[in-house]
Amino acid sequence: MGNVKRQLHLGLFLFSTGYHPAGWRLPEARTDGAFDPKFLQGVAKKLEEAKFDFFFLGDALATSADMQYTFPSQMIRLEPFTMIANIAAVTEKIGLIVTANTTYAEPYHIARLTASLDYLSGGRTAWNVVTGADVRAALNFSREKHWDNAKRYDYADEFVQVVKELWDSWEDDAFVRDKAAGVFIDGSKVHAIHHEGDHFSVAGPLNVARPPQGQLPLLSAGMSERSQELGARFSSAVFTGEILLESAKRFYSGIKGKLAGYGRKPEELFVLPGLVPLVGATEEEARAKYRELNELLVTDFNLKPLSDRIGIDLTGLPLDGLLPDLELSTRPGDEAQQLVRLAQRASGHEDITVRELFHYFAATSRGHLLIVGDPEQIADQMEEWFVQEAADGFNICPPYMPGGLDLFIELVVPVLQRRGLFRTEYEGSTFREHFGLERPDNIFAAKRVLQSS
Ligand SMILES: Cc1cc2nc3c(=O)[nH]c(=O)nc-3n(C[C@H](O)[C@H](O)[C@H](O)COP(=O)(O)O)c2cc1C
Repeated sequence: MGNVKRQLHLGLFLFSTGYHPAGWRLPEARTDGAFDPKFLQGVAKKLEEAKFDFFFLGDALATSADMQYTFPSQMIRLEPFTMIANIAAVTEKIGLIVTANTTYAEPYHIARLTASLDYLSGGRTAWNVVTGADVRAALNFSREKHWDNAKRYDYADEFVQVVKELWDSWEDDAFVRDKAAGVFIDGSKVHAIHHEGDHFSVAGPLNVARPPQGQLPLLSAGMSERSQELGARFSSAVFTGEILLESAKRFYSGIKGKLAGYGRKPEELFVLPGLVPLVGATEEEARAKYRELNELLVTDFNLKPLSDRIGIDLTGLPLDGLLPDLELSTRPGDEAQQLVRLAQRASGHEDITVRELFHYFAATSRGHLLIVGDPEQIADQMEEWFVQEAADGFNICPPYMPGGLDLFIELVVPVLQRRGLFRTEYEGSTFREHFGLERPDNIFAAKRVLQSS
């Protein structure tokens, strides 16, 4: 792994109507893709042609109609396991990331579903471990309230360990299939796991053979201390929502620094911030699309959350007036200035109004970096984050679909390839191979080797 030239890893974070809350209102946008299997398969095939590392499906376990104004693409969607199975059947190379929430599930179920998907996809599946970002989920699962961070992560830590043991409960060579002798399996290579812990009691073995990748790669995405520990211990990649370069660099070095504590090397974990690329063939085209999207936003211009974000009370200010003195900000250091600079860059001029600042943060309200520009400008920023070790790749969130993805693939990917930053061919066919991750030994087989030596 160490000698291979470091390259970007790219995935699509699927928002079927786009990441921008008004993306679906563009005349050319698809509004019904979330429930159209042909559309979803088409997106995955496009990604595969462009040599993307993965297609990522997030998930939440609650919804409401008012999300149509803030995050319509997350309001309703297909269940990720069933959808990925459908996509696996029409693709061959692209990695497939499925999200499963540990707070409202049982390890045996998740081990079985993920192992099955790894077979159906030929070793292309990875599991995004979440503990649940939406507190309303509790009310859909016969609970009074969503557990606090500590309890969710205590549960998740044990949950993941059980799943990992279950994946190993059949050794790779447990199947004898000797017709003449009438021996189907070697029972000494099939293991009960006898897990007895604080939250789970699971006997095993799993009723699916060891998955093609041995252990499915894990991903995680929390920002809390506990979530970062979970990532440092188990994950092959972490998703982040960083929009400021310096803070992204701090996160990057911070989490990589934690790996040694778990006997792991920094290059065993990839940091993948979200990126919302608003691409145009020219800078002016990109800015025109940004303005068009902003004008389509349905909003009551509530300035309170934005005021909290930049540490200056904007409520009551005229929307078309200029911003107040940023020195008034209560945010640490020059954070307010940096946040405003992002909005200025997106608008293409310095003297932005309160409305323009509001538009930028409405477009990025879920915390991913929005950049507006021509293909070289977008590639420049990706390269800067990559070279400065703020990112090992990006979780691409097109602002509208499918055009926002098409432009990224047609215009930006070739620039990245020309610069030697992104692959022009797949080197392998499994999720692990795309990231250069070795297939781990089976823990039970390894123990036996140890005992007999
Ligand atoms: C890029 C990204 C993707 C995420 N995807 C999901 C998801 O699909 N489902 C979910 O419940 N939470 C998702 N989250 C939320 C995190 O898992 C996490 O719960 C949240 O950031 C709160 O942090 P904490 O768990 O550390 O408190 C995502 C976060 C990020 C940054």
